[in-house]
Amino acid sequence: MQPRSWPVPVIAGNWKMNMGPDETRAFFEAFCRLHAPREDRSVWFFPPALSLHAALEATAARPDLRVGVQNIHWEGAGAFTGEISAPMAVQAGARLTLVGHSERRQLFGDTDETVAARTRAALAAGLTTIVCVGETLEQRRAGELETVLGRQLDAVIDALAESDAGAPLLAYEPVWAIGTGVNATPDDAATAHGFLRGRIRERAGDDVALAIPILYGGSVKPANAADLLAAPDVDGLLVGGASLEAESFARIADAPAP
Ligand code: PGA
Repeated sequence: MQPRSWPVPVIAGNWKMNMGPDETRAFFEAFCRLHAPREDRSVWFFPPALSLHAALEATAARPDLRVGVQNIHWEGAGAFTGEISAPMAVQAGARLTLVGHSERRQLFGDTDETVAARTRAALAAGLTTIVCVGETLEQRRAGELETVLGRQLDAVIDALAESDAGAPLLAYEPVWAIGTGVNATPDDAATAHGFLRGRIRERAGDDVALAIPILYGGSVKPANAADLLAAPDVDGLLVGGASLEAESFARIADAPAP
């Protein structure tokens, strides 16, 4: 495992299909005033690909803030209308990518296999990669939490078994908590994160298990950020709605962490 070049916790904003270039510039003007660089955490942004350039320009004087894309295709180039590849994201200045967000899985047909293929391509291109996993409410009620998380994680571990491209980060994002205002409790998060950490340990050993940060995502707000960060095995936060406003995201980015 290569040592990472950034500190934990990681506080990441997933803007989804929000914030064009103009809103992106306005956001960073405010955010950079509200949040000073810190060495004890990483603050990352996932704007829409069309706003990547604006985000990079707006953060040029702030090397502590990193910017990436929300998804990449597993091929490097070709006849895939509407897609972007990992090498071209890197060429455009992205340093990070999300993969397997539940909206991609639920609305755009991503499967465990395509998520694994995207992860491999992203890491091979040198992108720091966050793989999102999480169960639906139905699966949780049916007692399938571990089956679902295990399956989603195993597909990624299998795909990376023969590769030396390094490891991704994980984000545990229970689907029932995303955009609903109902966050997982710190105990729920600790249970799921503990399961994921244990599974990585079983499959890839202790060193890898300890080196992979696991972020929590799903209705993170300024009011619950510190409690979630204090939960065992929670190494950061992936924030949707509350990352769209500079003030609320700055409060989350500066939330106390153990
Ligand atoms: P939310 O989204 O914070 O709006 O619940 C989180 C996510 O989908 O990454």
